[in-house]
Amino acid sequence: MSRIAYVNGRYVPHAQARVHIDDRGYQFGDGIYEVCAVRSGVMIDDDPHLDRLERSLREMRMTAPMSRAALKVVMRETIRRNVVNDGIVYLQLTRGVAPRDHAFPKAPKTQVVVTARNAKPHPAAFVEDGVKAVTAPDIRWGRCDIKTIALLPNCMAKQVAKENGAYEAILVDEKGVVTEGSSSNAWIVTGDGKLVTRPATNEILNGITRLAIIEIARREGIVFEERAFTLDEMRRAREAFVTSASSFAMPVTQLDDAPIANGKPGTIALKLRAAYLQHMAAQAGAAA
Ligand code: PDD
Repeated sequence: MSRIAYVNGRYVPHAQARVHIDDRGYQFGDGIYEVCAVRSGVMIDDDPHLDRLERSLREMRMTAPMSRAALKVVMRETIRRNVVNDGIVYLQLTRGVAPRDHAFPKAPKTQVVVTARNAKPHPAAFVEDGVKAVTAPDIRWGRCDIKTIALLPNCMAKQVAKENGAYEAILVDEKGVVTEGSSSNAWIVTGDGKLVTRPATNEILNGITRLAIIEIARREGIVFEERAFTLDEMRRAREAFVTSASSFAMPVTQLDDAPIANGKPGTIALKLRAAYLQHMAAQAGAAA
């Protein structure tokens, strides 16, 4: 089956989907995006994702290309045309096509690209044994709360992870404090059993999975603290995991060359993962 992409009002074969060389996304990384999980053909947490998209639009002083309802129609149609069952839908908005000039164009026309694809289930070993993460310095800018497509530092960190046989890179600031993963939010469970993740300031992306996990933790009565934690704390943690639309909640059992705790996924991480899978299944079921 050939893949279909939505590009500025048209559904086109993926291989022929094009944007102009003067697109500011291509020239400057001047654009934003969202990645939504798809389960049984249904977008998960689409409204929180579109809330965050609208926030990114405002912070970037970009204009919405269409209403939220229309965006949802396009996303659903892209999922349908690509016969996506379990996977992701990707939405990218850029400031548009204009002669190269750093300042914003006078009358920008937001460009829209939507793609969707199936994703393989996570290998059982990832969940049963946990994954390895490496640490990398956080060399990003001061607005990590905006979900911008300008992801070069994230790509560089992920490449370090890949070259070291790791699933994720945990970004650490110059004070030795963990910010987040290269494409995920980072969590620990402390020695005294407290679930900890960093508050959603400008230094991290406020993950939609993060928000769902916070909600689940509250419901389950898990002691939760929203505060920054150091790399040293993470190395000494009882459990660690990362969350994102594509990882859900993924236990991290090795950090650089040392195991976290006994090197096995922790009970809280696994409980939250199971509850998050349930959270997705409930939405997929409700839409069926
Ligand atoms: N990444 N932090 C960063 C830097 C991210 O890129 C992501 C998501 C997250 C988690 O956000 P969410 O829970 O909304 O997926 C945190 C996506 C999946 C990506 O770039 O592919």
